[in-house]
Amino acid sequence: MLRFEEHHAVRQTVRQWRSEGQTVGLVPTMGFLHQGHLSLIDWARAHCDRVVVSIFVNPTQFSPGEDLATYPVDIERDVSLLVQANVDLLYIPDTQEMYRPGHSTWVVEENVGTGLCGADRPGHFRGVATVVCKLFHRVEPDLAVFGEKDWQQLAVLRRMVRDLDFAIQIVGRPIVREEDGLALSSRNAYLTPEQRDQAPALFAGLQVMRQALQMEGSESAGIKQEALRFWKRHLPLGQVEYLEIVDPESLQPLKTIHGPALAAVAMRLGRARLIDNLRLME
Ligand code: PAJ
Repeated sequence: MLRFEEHHAVRQTVRQWRSEGQTVGLVPTMGFLHQGHLSLIDWARAHCDRVVVSIFVNPTQFSPGEDLATYPVDIERDVSLLVQANVDLLYIPDTQEMYRPGHSTWVVEENVGTGLCGADRPGHFRGVATVVCKLFHRVEPDLAVFGEKDWQQLAVLRRMVRDLDFAIQIVGRPIVREEDGLALSSRNAYLTPEQRDQAPALFAGLQVMRQALQMEGSESAGIKQEALRFWKRHLPLGQVEYLEIVDPESLQPLKTIHGPALAAVAMRLGRARLIDNLRLME
């Protein structure tokens, strides 16, 4: 596996591959890799001639007071997982090189990124869109793979690519979960044993909403109440930051459900902020 910190070396290598007619897939990550990340890499491995993975804990997508300083890091473990996954190139940009002194240009998506996590974490999607834009320019892949766990992130990036004419295909892949239902996340490492015991109830509550939709009709408010009641009982250590039922494309909240609908939740559980989502109707 090639390993670069300098973006010209990455770009030159990828340009060489593409000039030989090889296709290149990029999987951007913040590291501390788990099976969710690896599922994206496996997809890229199966569909592209060359696979590039980036690891960069992007400071600009963290708000002051968030977990930037304590975000889990284990580069050597990540490297051995990436070698096992048969990745061709690992790109680990340096923060100083990514954001030069006086950096003052940002990519701001102004529609799908404003509600949900965008409302709770001001500036978060500006940081995500900007760093992914920069990674796209530096790597110049044919496609990039992202997880549906971060549904809103995926929506913001699809918009960015469409609105700003990137010739890069965005691929979304399903959420990988533990056997007990908890969506894999690097931030699960923050959970104490007691919090970890309650955490699977987050997804169970979303499944309760799906049942409620089938049994009790289409009013979003009533369906959300069912999940909130469930979490009070089974996840008393958690604090809901938001729970919404939205149109999966526009991310606009739905008052009643008659077509495609997605339940999306963010919950604070001790030091961790967990997010999850579930399609309620196709
Ligand atoms: P990170 O949280 O490291 O996630 C990297 C990619 O893995 C994202 O596309 C995310 O949606 C996906 N992912 C995380 N958990 C997953 C799971 N349980 N199942 C499937 N996919 C999962 O998301 C980021 O990093 C950053 O915002 C980034 C896009 C790298 C920009 O800095």
